Amino acid sequence: MDCDPGVDDAVMLMMALLSPQLDVRAITTVAGNVPLSLTSRNARILCQLMDRMDVPVFAGCPGPMLRTPVTAEDFHGDSGIAGLDPFEPDRPLEPAHAVSHLIKTLGAAKPQEYILVVTGPMTNIAAALVLDPSIAASIGRLVLMAGADSEGGNITPTAEFNVFADPHAAAIVFNSGIPATVMSLDVTHTVRAELPRIDRLKALKSEKASIMVRLLEAGNALEGRWKEGRKSPMHDPSTVAWLLAPHIFETRAATVSVVTDAGDRFGQTCPDFSAGGPHDWVTAADADEFFGLIERILEAA
Ligand code: RIB
Ligand code: CA
Repeated sequence: MDCDPGVDDAVMLMMALLSPQLDVRAITTVAGNVPLSLTSRNARILCQLMDRMDVPVFAGCPGPMLRTPVTAEDFHGDSGIAGLDPFEPDRPLEPAHAVSHLIKTLGAAKPQEYILVVTGPMTNIAAALVLDPSIAASIGRLVLMAGADSEGGNITPTAEFNVFADPHAAAIVFNSGIPATVMSLDVTHTVRAELPRIDRLKALKSEKASIMVRLLEAGNALEGRWKEGRKSPMHDPSTVAWLLAPHIFETRAATVSVVTDAGDRFGQTCPDFSAGGPHDWVTAADADEFFGLIERILEAA
């Protein structure tokens, strides 16, 4: 799981770490919502809170490949995990760089052995693919939170944050031809942390449910500050929800390209549906089923 926690990355990590159906081998972190030092601390905080300190965390790239860095504290808080009280986790970061770990692990893997979930700027994945293109054979599928088409952007009128934060990395990943399920704003904006959904999680009365509620309520408070009355979209959690319950989503085969030229469309994703392709662009989700899944994960935790 490659991520930039981030409030919604934290919700995604909770879902993954609490689901025994998923064999989470490692978490790799990247600069994105907040600087790398914080995303790397926050990932380990979530592992500790979820009683999953068995999962190693590797810090990756401290910034994008080429463009000037951008962050998103407005939507995640200065800590990156608004709603939680940050602490120095008991388990330290792994000594290896995330990109080295990806190359070493994928290089020793069987064909299509791994699924990579990527919920931040794609810098680590792109760097690994450039350094050792042969690792693509070991990646059965990418599950990406990235991009926007019909919905328009969330950081510019045309660009979604993860792609805008490192468009060159996104272009390398999409151009690799590795099969990918793409959770763009087109679908994540249709699944929001509405109050009745949060109330059902509150009723579970468990420590882990209360952590989830604190994250969702903090995300809503920040979203509402910038987008009057709107509740927080479930961007990154959509990736793990797809892994656990693909039947609640609809997809269309596409070939996604990324605008890397400077200008108004910098960072825009362009899914071409005319000839299909390796990218399954997710077009719809059942939001109630989505939150029912989160409820079941927390009930079983
Ligand atoms: O545009 C939404 C994406 O940007 C999410 O991954 C969120 O965590 C931020 O990184
Ligand atoms: Ca993210």
